[in-house]
Amino acid sequence: MDIQKLQRDIRALARERNAVILAHNYQRGEVQDVADISGDSLGLSMAAAKTDADVIVFCGVHFMAESAAILSPDKTVILPRMDAGCPMADMITADDVRRIREEHPGVPIVTYVNSSAEVKAESDICCTSANAVRVTRSVGAPTVYLTPDQNLAQWVARHTDQEVLYWKGYCPTHHRLRAEDVERTKARYPGAPFVAHPECRPEVLDLADAVKSTSGMIEWCREVDADTVIVGTETGLFHRLQKDSPHKTFVAPSDAMICPNMKLTSLEDVLEALETLENVVTVPEPVRARAVTALERMLAAGRD
Ligand code: 13P
Ligand code: SF4
Repeated sequence: MDIQKLQRDIRALARERNAVILAHNYQRGEVQDVADISGDSLGLSMAAAKTDADVIVFCGVHFMAESAAILSPDKTVILPRMDAGCPMADMITADDVRRIREEHPGVPIVTYVNSSAEVKAESDICCTSANAVRVTRSVGAPTVYLTPDQNLAQWVARHTDQEVLYWKGYCPTHHRLRAEDVERTKARYPGAPFVAHPECRPEVLDLADAVKSTSGMIEWCREVDADTVIVGTETGLFHRLQKDSPHKTFVAPSDAMICPNMKLTSLEDVLEALETLENVVTVPEPVRARAVTALERMLAAGRD
């Protein structure tokens, strides 16, 4: 079926179902284009918390739909592809967090939203890439423990006086990017600024002119006074960057920065999800009740 027809059918059915379609900035371009809201994890969490739609169709990965279900227990939250997971989220379990707490009594646990509902439920507060520094400072303790992303944690550690302990998880897509890749790209595009996501390795972030969440990158790229920008993140972001700044050239420092999970959802999947209202993501109430506190504390902290 042609893309425009599919998009029209999706929009019509979304209206009929009183559904809101949310798409993460890494989704396929045509999926971002059909969404009511596309954005970063924090923006989408906030949208999910505020919407008065009956149905939330979350074009992203499982932890994102779970966060929406935690924040909107009375709504039907649908993940068009149930097999869209996050390998980083799978690198830590609730048992691991309980063990961290036993080993570090009194140390607040700050958990990146890229984690399961069970892990959030065991944590004191959540953060996203857009507010990790602010959230960590806000807990006010001299020592904090960040899970599950080692790279985000080391980035936060550079921006706070607190001691930051951390779990050794990582995003395979961002961890794959090496400093040599960036240096090679910089040599090919002399003078082009480099903006990176904090899930990249510290030595990659050392080379960055700015370190931002995906939505932060969109804003930064729009404003930066440069014709060519090197962008260190999952390549799904390029669709939106190019739409926002059609006269600029965006260059990937590596062609390996593709998250297969973020690319699973097609327009056909979105249409089918709206037709069947299957693939509902739910979180058991005892877990939800504890996880919501960690997410609400994060939302109260705002963006960096
Ligand atoms: P943000 O859009 O919050 O920066 O998240 C990046 C990411 O890896 C989501 O899976
Ligand atoms: Fe997880 Fe990385 Fe994919 Fe985001 S880009 S869903 S953090 S694996």
